[in-house]
Amino acid sequence: MPDYFSLKNKTTVITGGLGLIGGAITQSLIECESRVIVVDIDEDRYKSLPESIHSNIHFEKADLTRLEEIEPFVKELWDRYEGIDNWINNAYPRTADWANKLEDVTVESWRKNVDIQMNSYCIISNEIAKLMANNGGGNIVNVSSIQALKAPDFTIYEGTDMTTPAAYTPIKAGIMMYSKYLASYFGGRNVRVNAICPGGVFNNQNESFLKRYNKKTLLGRMAKPEEVARPVVFLLSDAASYITGTALTVDGGWTAI
Ligand SMILES: NC(=O)c1ccc[n+]([C@@H]2O[C@H](COP(=O)([O-])OP(=O)(O)OC[C@H]3O[C@@H](n4cnc5c(N)ncnc54)[C@H](O)[C@@H]3O)[C@@H](O)[C@H]2O)c1
Repeated sequence: MPDYFSLKNKTTVITGGLGLIGGAITQSLIECESRVIVVDIDEDRYKSLPESIHSNIHFEKADLTRLEEIEPFVKELWDRYEGIDNWINNAYPRTADWANKLEDVTVESWRKNVDIQMNSYCIISNEIAKLMANNGGGNIVNVSSIQALKAPDFTIYEGTDMTTPAAYTPIKAGIMMYSKYLASYFGGRNVRVNAICPGGVFNNQNESFLKRYNKKTLLGRMAKPEEVARPVVFLLSDAASYITGTALTVDGGWTAI
């Protein structure tokens, strides 16, 4: 592997690093030889990881929805690991009623999801970017979605209980756009900030949904988790040293048509 793809001697934080996409990012980070710090709320899942992953990561349990605790938490991690080169915001907290149809969304639920899904990414990014900027630079990747680029096509959900929650589009668009704001704010201090916009990841979804979804992508299928993870790792690497303020679409061509 050429050095410009390697993350050797780098320290990378991945939030939500035990989930569907996060687990694949964690795996890719290990393969690219980064020191990996997984920040996640799910300690039981951490304990049940196979030894090959368990022994290659540092685990930090945290509830990232507690916005007031983010500043001291990020600072504490920074001090404990003697600096952080890369930070990936990927955690996916949501309220119990997150899957409700638009007609049933309460103001309280809307507010809460914007807070825990979007504001948390923004506040974490602020805190880590300040530390990176004062220390010579670093990289941030925020996981957005194709929902930031294109409205959902509700016909793909017909006959299923699936939907795209109404708040997801503004949340993901906000995360994408704020990544650009931060890239602009901190560009002169060597902090690169990018977003990634993945399409749907295969997770044993309903057959009729899959058929309709697949038809709308140029590659005729949903993503595998590692196909989202590897572009994230690319954005952190020196191979992407001139990429900042971008939103990298990883969607098998969904948004191209
Ligand atoms: N799955 C997809 O098809 C898809 C597509 C596009 C974008 N995304 C985005 O990718 C990201 C990851 O999604 P996923 O599908 O892998 O989700 P997931 O539910 O599989 O994993 C989410 C992870 O976040 C952790 N988490 C949840 N609440 C937390 C909290 N309060 N504090 C810390 N950690 C917490 C969970 O324990 C879990 O490990 C999200 O930003 C999501 O919006 C997903």
